[in-house]
Amino acid sequence: MSDSRTIKIFDTTLRDGEQSPGASMNLAEKLELAQALCDLKVDIIEAGFPIASPGDFEAVREIASTIRGATICGLARCNDADIDRAWEALKHASTPRIHIFLATSAIHREFKLKMDKQEIIRRAVGGVQRAAKYCDDIEFSPEDAARTESDFLCEVVEAAIAAGATTVNIPDTVGYATPAHFGGVIRNLKNRVPNIDRAVISVHCHNDLGLAVANSLAGIENGAGQVECTINGIGERAGNCSLEEIVMALRTRYDYYQADTRIESRRLVPTSRLVSNITGLQVQRNKAIVGKNAFAHEAGIHQDGMLKEPRTYEIMRPEDVGLAKTDLVMGKHSGRAALADRAKALGYHLTGEQLQSVFEQFKILADKKKEIYDGDIAALCEQQYLNGADQWNIESYHIQCGSGEKPTVTLVLERGQTRSTETMTCGDGPVDAIFLAIEKITGITVVCRDFRVQAITVGKDAQAEVNVEVVHDDHVYRGRGVSTDSVEASARAFLNAINRVEVSAGGRLHPQHSDAPPAL
Ligand code: KIV
Ligand code: ZN
Repeated sequence: MSDSRTIKIFDTTLRDGEQSPGASMNLAEKLELAQALCDLKVDIIEAGFPIASPGDFEAVREIASTIRGATICGLARCNDADIDRAWEALKHASTPRIHIFLATSAIHREFKLKMDKQEIIRRAVGGVQRAAKYCDDIEFSPEDAARTESDFLCEVVEAAIAAGATTVNIPDTVGYATPAHFGGVIRNLKNRVPNIDRAVISVHCHNDLGLAVANSLAGIENGAGQVECTINGIGERAGNCSLEEIVMALRTRYDYYQADTRIESRRLVPTSRLVSNITGLQVQRNKAIVGKNAFAHEAGIHQDGMLKEPRTYEIMRPEDVGLAKTDLVMGKHSGRAALADRAKALGYHLTGEQLQSVFEQFKILADKKKEIYDGDIAALCEQQYLNGADQWNIESYHIQCGSGEKPTVTLVLERGQTRSTETMTCGDGPVDAIFLAIEKITGITVVCRDFRVQAITVGKDAQAEVNVEVVHDDHVYRGRGVSTDSVEASARAFLNAINRVEVSAGGRLHPQHSDAPPAL
């Protein structure tokens, strides 16, 4: 390709990414992330699947009403109820997009949908036409396109474009494709679909074989103008194409692809950390671009080369992806303005009231530990989104325990104006005892299937971060808590998970990859 192209970045962290087990986010977290995606300058934010649950609907509606600067998209299956509900959530967006999907591969047609090819075309056309009555930006996805017969895929894509689709997204739903194969799928559409120039071709690759980024690049090389991806590559199973990797691959290898994106690459690391903190899904150390080791050179021969000329071993500069050279250290004498600046640089948008509350917590923390690092500030900011005012919070706890004796815990929880106290002698240690007391007060019992403690910064006085994963009614919920006291951090994490269970009470519909009628 000789002409320079701008590839659109369609971020689906809030929809496909949120489908990672335990990665569900509350409304405040979703809004925070949507704003961060906007600062990152993604072109399209897929904010959710409005018919999936009242919570999904509310999140898409809020994001559509408040976020400006990116197209806001909502997902719908190919049926009237889904499409109408998606529009209801999206209608206040300044630039809305409805994204409709319908499976097309033989295996999905025969076993999942029980529909023949003609019925698929009829439904796809009907769905796109219905959506096109609401807005003029319509995306159509033939689900499992990578395993769909090429003649039929061309037929469906042509019919969807004729019906009004302005973007045709080609998903490798099960991560089955390989680069040469997937590039061929896109080339085939480009060469054989007569009206293909009336729509943008998009690629949406899953990472089951670890090839999502490579397949997306092959799609771009063969004419795709949009990539669907998620921050840190999160998503179902092995996840989706990672946004930071595809963006930096295009930027670093502009010489080859002659294509770039609008992404503000210095926001990549802060946005990656935000997603990791919000979802509790940790980024592996050696993850490309945003992992802790991505720019760390250990080998002596590399260090020697780096000192002489960084480009000997470095193909990207750490500062270009937003990796700060040093953690700016703050202390008890730092003022509100410095804190506000730092929070902003880390990607947080605090209201005046939230900043005040973070500042108060900052002062308390600064009395407990000498040096406050970015990780500490991020943790304080995130406390603002963790539990709503109408949810359980810890007022105080007291534990008496020691070797060979059962712990006795007194726990006070508050929720709005209500305070509940429980004293129990139970459990096999202080953490177990406090979890049992939380279950007793809230009346919600769960199975704890993961419990991780780590220090969020350096030093013996570092804050402990606890992440828990619990199961309730076959659904996985996670919780995160931070404190200089690791028992309190554990209690906060557990209570955060319990609050999430409570918010989703009433049942959450998970129809993401099903075309069955909505169970509403
Ligand atoms: O993987 C997939 O097929 C999807 C579609 C809804 C685009 O996520
Ligand atoms: Zn997907």
